[in-house]
Amino acid sequence: MSIPDSRPVLIFDTTLRDGEQCPGATLNTPEKLEVAKQLARLGVDIIEAGFPYASTGDFEAVQRIAQEVQGPVICGLARALKGDIKRCAEAISAAPRRRIHTFLSTSDIHLEHQLRKSRAEVLVIAGEMVAYSRELCEDVEFSPMDAGRSDPEFLYTVIERAIANGATTINIPDTVGYTTPVEFGQLIAGIRANVANIAQAVLSVHCHNDLGLAVANSLEAVKQGARQVECTINGIGERAGNTSLEEVVMALQVRRNYFNPYFGREPGSETPLTQIKTQEIYRTSRLVSNLTGMLVHPNKAIVGANAFAHESGIHQDGLLKNKNTYEIMDAQSIGLLENTLVLGKHSGRNAFRSRLEELGYQLSDDDLNRAFLRFKDVADKKKTISDWDIEAMVNDELRVAPQAFVLERVQVSCGDGLPTATVQLRGPDGVELLDAAVGTGPVDAVYKAINRLVAVPNELIEFSVQSVTAGIDAMGEVTIRLRHNQQTYSGHSANTDIIVASAHAYIGALNKLYQTLKEASQPALNRQQAKEV
Ligand code: KIV
Ligand code: ZN
Repeated sequence: MSIPDSRPVLIFDTTLRDGEQCPGATLNTPEKLEVAKQLARLGVDIIEAGFPYASTGDFEAVQRIAQEVQGPVICGLARALKGDIKRCAEAISAAPRRRIHTFLSTSDIHLEHQLRKSRAEVLVIAGEMVAYSRELCEDVEFSPMDAGRSDPEFLYTVIERAIANGATTINIPDTVGYTTPVEFGQLIAGIRANVANIAQAVLSVHCHNDLGLAVANSLEAVKQGARQVECTINGIGERAGNTSLEEVVMALQVRRNYFNPYFGREPGSETPLTQIKTQEIYRTSRLVSNLTGMLVHPNKAIVGANAFAHESGIHQDGLLKNKNTYEIMDAQSIGLLENTLVLGKHSGRNAFRSRLEELGYQLSDDDLNRAFLRFKDVADKKKTISDWDIEAMVNDELRVAPQAFVLERVQVSCGDGLPTATVQLRGPDGVELLDAAVGTGPVDAVYKAINRLVAVPNELIEFSVQSVTAGIDAMGEVTIRLRHNQQTYSGHSANTDIIVASAHAYIGALNKLYQTLKEASQPALNRQQAKEV
């Protein structure tokens, strides 16, 4: 294909599939749904919602997303096996626009050690399983896994076979993050030049970040004609993660003049190269970080806390004279809110509602009432409420994870003596639970008291507090992760009192753990569902 392809780049978000494979990033179904709805607001073209065959929980999450999320294509992942593909088709069946993504390794190292199949066998399976997927769904993506380390000639043959059997998207994964940008670009150019029917499919890329090159590789592939990029919010994913959505999108936006000619456009063309609503980037990043408990590094490009902060005097001086001296993009273009002081304790429900609407929240009357009560509570303690505070408290209040244990009261006495905490909870059967404990500090004492009441062994592996805004009365956000049986569970909460936020965050994570244990204690149900596969 010698004429540059002028179509925009499709953004395929795999936060809920590859991203969720990141150790410790496990989300429950309501959380996945919340992320998927935000991804739809962000304007991604395709949501890879999960791997339905992997577990009953995955199946249900994909099914709910297919039923409830409007806009993007809803995609499920399936190995190149009939059982996987059938289960995937069932899970996505309610989505008006749906896709089956099936994959099969093509590198010799995977064929020999993992699949134990010959190249000839892989070629046949690829064709047959794509054809089977097409019987169940119009839109089929095929990925030759470990393409980055596959023999290009064999890769061309497999791709050609997949397209001949109905694949509508061909995705080229650099599964182990091994390639460098020029090499990966050449691989894409080679596919475009050597696969006779390539024009019948969208060419996609899926890069891992083991050498820190995932974004660079994806952008190089776009220059060579790839028109779908697979990525995750905050770049989360297996090992070093996946291509970061916000970095690819903002590179294509900020450096549009550079990329335009590769789309056959004039350098100065203003037409966006993706359909992403960039003002939703920051909120999506925060949501994914809060729900997964995977904190964003302060220096992370685009969404890190320091990404728009200028410390050096020379830089600050330049910025005051002209923003362009040291800033290549505007913080507001990613939806980073101004820390404006907007509301106070005398603000009424209408002012609160209209500010929420300006911030992009459309709440039901019930949710608005809950959020408003919370707002009044915070406004009593904090003189002025900024947009950041509103966002933190609304997200905190409306989080929908199942709550077996509810924190009723927490009180600590601390200082240079014996830090002691008294905690009152409402348990799963509505029973009131009360206990106290002594710890090395107030948070430790609270966690010990909670553990005495909840009585599920767990190990706290991460605890972090961040301030939402500056000032002595600022709200603190607590993110924690705990481990039980090799599984990680996260919790997040924001409050003007960091002890209360710490208790809520811990209870949030324990509730997820409790839910998992409850589900695992229903083996009959799980076995029955497994049999249906
Ligand atoms: O990294 C990979 O190869 C994958 C495939 C399933 C596309 O995630
Ligand atoms: Zn991957």
